[in-house]
Amino acid sequence: MTTAGLESAVALELSRMGLAPLEPGRGFVCVDASALEGARIVLAIRSASRVILELASGLPAHADGLLGALCGLPWEDTLPMRTPWAVRAIGKSAELRHTGFAERLVKDGIRDRFRARGRECPPVDPAEPRVIVDLRIDKKGVAVGIDLGGGSLHERGTHRKIQAPIREHVAAGLAWLAGVRPDQPLVDPFCGSGTLIAEAAAVALAIPAGRKAERTTLPRLALFRKLPLGELAADLQAKKAGPHAPFLAFDSQESALRSARMSLSRMGLAAEIEVRCQGIDRFHADGLDGPGLIISNPPWGIRLDKSEAREAWRTMGTVARTLGGWRLALLSGNPAVTQGLGLKATRRFPVLVGGIDARLLTYAIHERRRETPKS
Ligand SMILES: C[S@@+](CC[C@H](N)C(=O)[O-])C[C@H]1O[C@@H](n2cnc3c(N)ncnc32)[C@H](O)[C@@H]1O
Repeated sequence: MTTAGLESAVALELSRMGLAPLEPGRGFVCVDASALEGARIVLAIRSASRVILELASGLPAHADGLLGALCGLPWEDTLPMRTPWAVRAIGKSAELRHTGFAERLVKDGIRDRFRARGRECPPVDPAEPRVIVDLRIDKKGVAVGIDLGGGSLHERGTHRKIQAPIREHVAAGLAWLAGVRPDQPLVDPFCGSGTLIAEAAAVALAIPAGRKAERTTLPRLALFRKLPLGELAADLQAKKAGPHAPFLAFDSQESALRSARMSLSRMGLAAEIEVRCQGIDRFHADGLDGPGLIISNPPWGIRLDKSEAREAWRTMGTVARTLGGWRLALLSGNPAVTQGLGLKATRRFPVLVGGIDARLLTYAIHERRRETPKS
């Protein structure tokens, strides 16, 4: 599962893991994987918000049919004994309009299945479940599965103590869409708390998320329990950055950079990214060795000062015209300020960011556009 708009990013990341993702749906990508491959996805993937082991799909999207279908699934082999569990539903259909109702229905269906077989059902605990039964409802049908990450993956990452405007999996997804590379300079001139440049660097350097197996649901499930999960997680965590072109993060606010430095050092990326307190107006590419990529989330001027945001985009446009051969990938949630850039986007990727219908806008700066910066 991922944020709507980032499905192709997830597909690219799964492909780099050697898997063959199927055609994405809205907010999700399916892949056929062995248990070991599934465990690797849970521990390594950056651009997904959740990883679900699908047990059944296309189930009837109405109460009676769903109940019957659920009673046919082998829950006693799936849910671990004495482990608290709960159902979490998203979406709706004409007959299943309330997620709370759907969750109760599924919970009752699963309990009935245990009862009918004379087996004790593990305890239900909606407040602190250790296994989550995931239910996705839409008008075409219902899919049911187990949430292998045990909740939102972005809450398990290295930025969790820091207030970041974009979530880690969104930042990673944007990096995949932007096409980050280790051999080209990578710059975030409005880095704020550093989420975007950190994830972009990690994606460029093929560094997996490296989650701890014990923080996921994997060790609780029979299908994964026999796998060498500790070894697999340790291998993924041991992956270090290889050689790369200069990576640079800057921001005009020293206070933002303090958070950025903390995030980068937690992620083991402090040595890979140079962090500087400087305004966009002072950026030039001298000494950066070759055209690179600017990936950034400049201010949108929605909650904060509009004039500062307008000025930031306008100056970004002026600077970009001096960067012949470079590419830009800029996230905008406010077309009114984006106009100030004065460049025509080559692609626009719609992405939902914090409930705002944002766009990742990409630009290619032609060599002939190279101009002397205006002072
Ligand atoms: C939307 S935030 C960036 C969020 C960032 N991607 C993150 O995940 O934390 C925009 C940042 O631009 C910075 N900023 C605003 N005007 C600037 C300018 N002229 N030059 C450099 N940074 C600027 C602000 O200090 C703020 O941290």
